[in-house]
Amino acid sequence: MPRGDGGSELYAPPPLRTVARVDTTTSAGAARNLPDDTRFDTVLVLDYGSQYTPLIARRIREAGVYSEIVPWDLSRDRLRELALKGIVLSGSDASVHDENAPRLPAWLLELDLPVLGICYGLQLVAHTLGGSVGRGERREYGPAELEIIDAEHPLFAGCPQSSRVWMSHGDKVLEAPADFRQIARTDGSEVAALSRDAITLIQFHPEVNHTESGRQILRNFVVDICGCRPDWNAGSFVDGTVGAIREQVADAGMLLGISGGVDSAVAAALVHAAVGDRLRCIFVDTGLLRANEVAEVEESLRTGTGLNLVTVDAADRFLDKLKGVADPERKREIIGDEFFAVFIEEAAKLDGIEFFVQGTIYPDTIESGSAGLGSVKIKTHHNTRIPDRLHLKVIEPLRRLFKDEVREVGLELELPESLVWRQPFPGPGLAVRLIGEITRKRVAALQAADRIFREEVAAAGLEREISQYFAALTGIRTVGVMGDSRTYGEVAALRAVTTDDFMTADWYRLPDDVLARTSSRIVNEVSAITRVVYDVTSKPPGTIEWE
Ligand code: XMP
Repeated sequence: MPRGDGGSELYAPPPLRTVARVDTTTSAGAARNLPDDTRFDTVLVLDYGSQYTPLIARRIREAGVYSEIVPWDLSRDRLRELALKGIVLSGSDASVHDENAPRLPAWLLELDLPVLGICYGLQLVAHTLGGSVGRGERREYGPAELEIIDAEHPLFAGCPQSSRVWMSHGDKVLEAPADFRQIARTDGSEVAALSRDAITLIQFHPEVNHTESGRQILRNFVVDICGCRPDWNAGSFVDGTVGAIREQVADAGMLLGISGGVDSAVAAALVHAAVGDRLRCIFVDTGLLRANEVAEVEESLRTGTGLNLVTVDAADRFLDKLKGVADPERKREIIGDEFFAVFIEEAAKLDGIEFFVQGTIYPDTIESGSAGLGSVKIKTHHNTRIPDRLHLKVIEPLRRLFKDEVREVGLELELPESLVWRQPFPGPGLAVRLIGEITRKRVAALQAADRIFREEVAAAGLEREISQYFAALTGIRTVGVMGDSRTYGEVAALRAVTTDDFMTADWYRLPDDVLARTSSRIVNEVSAITRVVYDVTSKPPGTIEWE
């Protein structure tokens, strides 16, 4: 799904969510990965732990080639299910001289496939094949000028002879292993790129935006050197997945929980395209949705897709169970349990349901540590808990997609744009934005503040520019003054971020006048709130939600 983007460059996994995950090996059915792995020419990225690893896979997919991230010690028999055409070795914080430094898998050089080693990947191959790797005089971090020595090398086709690249390393190659040719240099790294037969090694990071020819270099590797067909796109994904779902589920009925966010809506549209009304969708109104959300979601999904959708009003039971609970993990537990209690009751009313569809996407699996080919049969769940009692097999048709790819698939399926571009909304809903106890009064105050913020962002025409924006109630109470009297109420926080993968994010520089209008309206129109603050923390080190 080729596309251009700006966006953040750093990836550091946040702490795992401990409550919202369950290993489905213990549940009725292991999740299925769709479509069939052999459909697309594939380039694997062996992950040695670099913060940039997910970006490598993204850039390769932008070139129209399917790519997945796998652990560096993946066993060889895992490769059998793939149309594997090449392998990229990521960077790492490690040094090849560390005692427990990650190594090359034994099978790598036996396969005789094209290999691209990036940063640590270069050092590791050089070290393993007898070259010399050592500390440079100082760590090289930041931009450098790359000079191509071998302009005929296919990795550099279409690249200028000299261009800016991004460096981030402590060690470097001091002496190349036998038979390797030096094909590029920088002032800080005499050996900035090496080549021998199908192995190409580079010290710089082509995956980050700061490397001017980075996209071209990765495209050259996957298309020209590996010979991949660049046929990974929204259309081919939809065709393959629809066919695979039909084959896998035969005549069975399927159940899906609509959350109000884009992932579950796209998953629903995709499965609906495969099995029609045999897919039953349930939208649980937990009482923790945004203002007007039920009507908006119903409207866009029914008219936009013709989905077989039931809305269950469960607000009272959720809010009653949450009474007096302030601990965030406990709230998640209660909501997860109640959610599935509702689901189980609704599922019991339907005949022939055998599958449960989840809108898990690729970053969810990376964040919960279950990404990679290991995920083919065994899954860990970030979004929801699936108790054994559900007795349904799980299908996760979006499990391979980054968020922007999910949106492209939504557009391919002709979902309304308003839905495709809807900002994400967490499964536990406003509960993660109400710090402290959840009461009906606080929910109503937060809904009102959030609605005002959304109205003001829309009025400023910024909806598409900001990836996610919302209000939260911080749980702090402060004094204020209105007219002649003192007030005592809550502090609301506004959060707005830009990101392209939700794994890293930057806070959005909202124009002063939008902030001013939003703040003034909230304090005037929502009596429970007396003060408004703006969150200027990026992720990492913060998270997007407050919780
Ligand atoms: P954090 O707060 O971890 O959020 O930076 C990253 C993205 O995930 C959303 N989020 C969730 N989505 N179930 C979901 O489906 C959850 O439990 C959950 N918690 C956070 C969050 O809104 C943001 O887009």
